[in-house]
Amino acid sequence: MLINPLTKNIGADDTALDLGAYRNNDGYRGWLRALRMSPEKLIDLVQKAGLRGRGGAGFNTGFKWSFVPGDRQAQPVRYLVCNADEMEPGTFKDRLLMERDPHLLLEGMMIAAHAIGATTAYIFIRGEYHRAAKVLENAIGEAEQAGLLTPETTGWEQPLRIYLHRSSGNYICGEETALLNALEGKRAIPRAKPPYPQVSGLWGRPTVVNNVETLCNLPHLVTQGADWYRQLGRGEDGGTKLFGVSGKVNKPGLWELPMGTPVREVIENHAGGLRDGLTLRGFLPGGGSTDFLGPQHLDLPLDYDAVGKAGSRLGTGTITVLDEATCPVGLVLNLSRFFARESCGWCTPCRDGLPWVVHILQRIENGEGTMEDLELLREHTIRMAPGNTFCALAPGAAEPIQSALKLFEQDFVDHIRGKACPFH
Ligand code: NAI
Repeated sequence: MLINPLTKNIGADDTALDLGAYRNNDGYRGWLRALRMSPEKLIDLVQKAGLRGRGGAGFNTGFKWSFVPGDRQAQPVRYLVCNADEMEPGTFKDRLLMERDPHLLLEGMMIAAHAIGATTAYIFIRGEYHRAAKVLENAIGEAEQAGLLTPETTGWEQPLRIYLHRSSGNYICGEETALLNALEGKRAIPRAKPPYPQVSGLWGRPTVVNNVETLCNLPHLVTQGADWYRQLGRGEDGGTKLFGVSGKVNKPGLWELPMGTPVREVIENHAGGLRDGLTLRGFLPGGGSTDFLGPQHLDLPLDYDAVGKAGSRLGTGTITVLDEATCPVGLVLNLSRFFARESCGWCTPCRDGLPWVVHILQRIENGEGTMEDLELLREHTIRMAPGNTFCALAPGAAEPIQSALKLFEQDFVDHIRGKACPFH
């Protein structure tokens, strides 16, 4: 039996679930249960359940919350921020949750707010997500009107306020500290970490930034408990996850599956395998900023540690498939153009390095490259390593290039020797 707590309310039609229907399906039970628990107990529960951040990094959620200072008298102002700035290439999972089951996200936010003692929460949503923003605004209004956020319901001194903030920025605004700067009305550039936002975040106050899908896991986790949640996963990590596939497959899409589901099952059973008799050459397991893996990894369980051990990252869990008829140089060029355009320009390896990478890749793709270009490309990506930049944008952009240079080196050489793209 497939257990799908994240998508159980998402039906065939594309309308958003309203408050009445959400409540009829056991909605807000987790919220009421969480209110009967102490914040410490709640943090402990989420930590034990092994819920890992679904934004891409996979950091243990309860552990992240535990860094927020416990002394609420000394630091009464705290913030919760939902990161809904979904912009990772090939990633479209949070949009579904927000557009179709907005109260699931709001309930998750309320639970997280209780755990960390926040009475103000923000949803920072990608500017292009017009429909999701409209649906969420309506849902916030419904929750307020129903009194779900009032001191009468919560027993808190102040009401909980949830604000929706539409991003007017780009990819970098999804980096948690750049996001906080954007919310403060400043230029969206990343801040040096530490201090982490849990200690000094929005306006210097303790702040937790959690991804949409992470927060959507909380209502059922709190209602059913840590053991139940853990056993939903097939591998080391607990719970279910939205996995997606794009590329030349028969049924590109998004499915809720147990954590640890093997890649083969996602691509072959759910995405219907490759189109037109094509064969698989490789795949990006979780967005454009992850390393390519090859067909030898098809039986890999999709959980954070297993994908990490194989040399990539689970990231957002949305797979991009590379088939043998698609040019890998063109693919990484396309991704690199995106990352170069989206750089905030704050540090040199990203601001100057990425346009150079695009320039070299374009040269190779046009059949104008030289063998020296391959070394130059490698060198550039090494300079974008973590530690040389403020945030993960440039290191993430380097991952598909570095792995393509290893897995598909012959394709780069063929472009150079043949003075043309062999796929055209
Ligand atoms: P990170 O590993 O630095 O941090 C992840 C989270 O854990 C953050 O909230 C951070 O505050 C917390 N954390 C990490 N180390 C900590 C420590 N020592 N003490 C306290 N808290 C700590 O990763 P980052 O840079 O926040 O995110 C990178 C990820 O974002 C990538 O894996 C990428 O896949 C993903 N991403 C997702 C996008 C999307 O559209 N969903 C877009 C771009 C990137």
